[in-house]
Amino acid sequence: MKSKKAHYGYYGLPILSIMIGITLLIGISIAFFVLKLFGWIIAGFGLYVLTSYGISVILIHRRREGDFPDLLKIEGNEYVLDVGCGMGRMSIAVAKRLKDGKVVGIDIWDKKELWSNSPERAYANAEIEGVRDKVEFKYGNALEIPFPDNTFDLATCSSLLNNLNGNAKKIKALSEIYRVLKPSGKFLLIEPLRCLRMFFLFTPFAFWQILKKEDWDRLLDQGGFINLKYCYQNGVGFFLLEKPEVRNHD
Ligand SMILES: C[S@@+](CC[C@H](N)C(=O)[O-])C[C@H]1O[C@@H](n2cnc3c(N)ncnc32)[C@H](O)[C@@H]1O
Repeated sequence: MKSKKAHYGYYGLPILSIMIGITLLIGISIAFFVLKLFGWIIAGFGLYVLTSYGISVILIHRRREGDFPDLLKIEGNEYVLDVGCGMGRMSIAVAKRLKDGKVVGIDIWDKKELWSNSPERAYANAEIEGVRDKVEFKYGNALEIPFPDNTFDLATCSSLLNNLNGNAKKIKALSEIYRVLKPSGKFLLIEPLRCLRMFFLFTPFAFWQILKKEDWDRLLDQGGFINLKYCYQNGVGFFLLEKPEVRNHD
């Protein structure tokens, strides 16, 4: 039977469940058969990852995604790009605010990053939320966005850029978003920030991969964007940016 409620997936679940399972198994085996203290430390680590992941899943699901596009001041007739749309969370939130406009969500639908990630799931969510006619989901890499220059009025990107390894890839994705935005087009970037709260919610590996607010400021400036507004909510940074009429610097 088809679910009546939209479901936007669990971030990192496949990798994390393997990691938690292995850590608990190794830790408990060592504790019982070899070195008690050492084994319980490893098992404790597994439990810590399990707990922090559980809390972050609850927080992500309580996140009121619908609030975020308000930062964009959507008028209703815009052509919008959602980069790394996954199962459509942000695309659908934006589509709900459109009258004649349209959202195109692009993604490579990596199932390691998002459990049951697929364009079919994104379309099913759009159907459930009553915006099927306002969205289109299309295969597309953030590093090579399959659209011509100056195409979109607005762009959004939520929880993708931190996952691109290294600043070179982040800058490349930002330059692609810049390229496909029209001059004066707005861009909403949403990313978890490296802060104390996230230290407890992310696994240690993932925590060191996420950037601080200052790092984003530098990358966004390097990308040529003007920072219009910034908000911080529960460890997550919301950057409202603009592509200037004339490029600031190269
Ligand atoms: C953590 S999920 C976030 C999904 C969605 N934006 C949300 O907020 O629910 C990251 C998404 O980025 C996608 N992704 C990863 N690398 C990508 C790339 N190079 N180009 C496009 N999408 C990518 C993954 O497939 C995944 O759907």
